[in-house]
Amino acid sequence: MATPSPSTPLTLSGKTAIVTGASRGIGEGIALDFAARGAKVVLTYSSSKSDSAVSTTINKIKSLNNGSDAISVRTDLRHPSAPGEIVSATLSAFGPHIDILVNNAGCELAKPITEMTAEDFSYVYDLNVRAPLLLSGAVVPHLRAPGRIINISSVGARSGFKNFSAYCSSKAALEGLTRVLAAELGEKGGHTVNAVNPGPVQTVLLEGIPRSLVEWQKDATPVEHRLGTIDDVVQIVAFLAEERSRWVSGQCISASGGFSMW
Ligand SMILES: NC(=O)c1ccc[n+]([C@@H]2O[C@H](COP(=O)([O-])OP(=O)(O)OC[C@H]3O[C@@H](n4cnc5c(N)ncnc54)[C@H](OP(=O)(O)O)[C@@H]3O)[C@@H](O)[C@H]2O)c1
Repeated sequence: MATPSPSTPLTLSGKTAIVTGASRGIGEGIALDFAARGAKVVLTYSSSKSDSAVSTTINKIKSLNNGSDAISVRTDLRHPSAPGEIVSATLSAFGPHIDILVNNAGCELAKPITEMTAEDFSYVYDLNVRAPLLLSGAVVPHLRAPGRIINISSVGARSGFKNFSAYCSSKAALEGLTRVLAAELGEKGGHTVNAVNPGPVQTVLLEGIPRSLVEWQKDATPVEHRLGTIDDVVQIVAFLAEERSRWVSGQCISASGGFSMW
């Protein structure tokens, strides 16, 4: 993970952002980037195994000395009480407004449809769909206009990857949620709601995806036939978080080097 540069323009100065799943991977990259742009960032995660990684990220942010700040909230987003905890901790630390919510925490599950159980469905949907829905609802009363909600979906939302019925359909549901919230919140002072759909990026999550599928995706990626980097995704999220994206809402932007063209 690259260390944020203190010379990054402070385009998110004075903003408070919540990034879920920020202990590693894409979420950590987003949190570091937002802080480099001057934001106060709330990093959420669920596992005590991630405590020291999150402390390291928070120390990096505090050493930027650019007006940014960071706190962490360890809470399981599969639990319906988590959104309230995250919002309370945010308001206590950084004051009465929230400007940006990134629903990034997510999980995958590879299983043939004949083996899929109701528990498997809840495992995936409670984190990938219900948590973004409930956390958005908890944040909106405090969302300062023009606020930003950015959902991290996947190219899987629009692909038929075999054995990923719960994952791919959950990300399609997240796209649907994105459009509804864009319609519901846009008139409240210019809030925008968008999704970013990454293709494969080398993170812990990707370790659960069959290598053959990842290699096939690389071959089918027009731009350099490579995996995406965390920074490839972060740059798109940063654009959507900033003021300059004000006329983009209800969109699902593919961050996949052209793997998905719609
Ligand atoms: N990597 C890819 O190739 C790829 C491609 C397309 C889309 N995406 C999407 O991008 C997002 C981030 O993926 P990633 O690859 O960065 O994943 P990752 O490395 O596995 O990180 C997942 C993050 O979510 C947190 N998390 C997991 N379960 C949680 C729970 N129950 N409650 C709260 N937080 C939880 C994890 O922290 P703890 O373990 O500490 O809880 C971690 O911070 C996901 O939504 C994923 O679907 C990734």
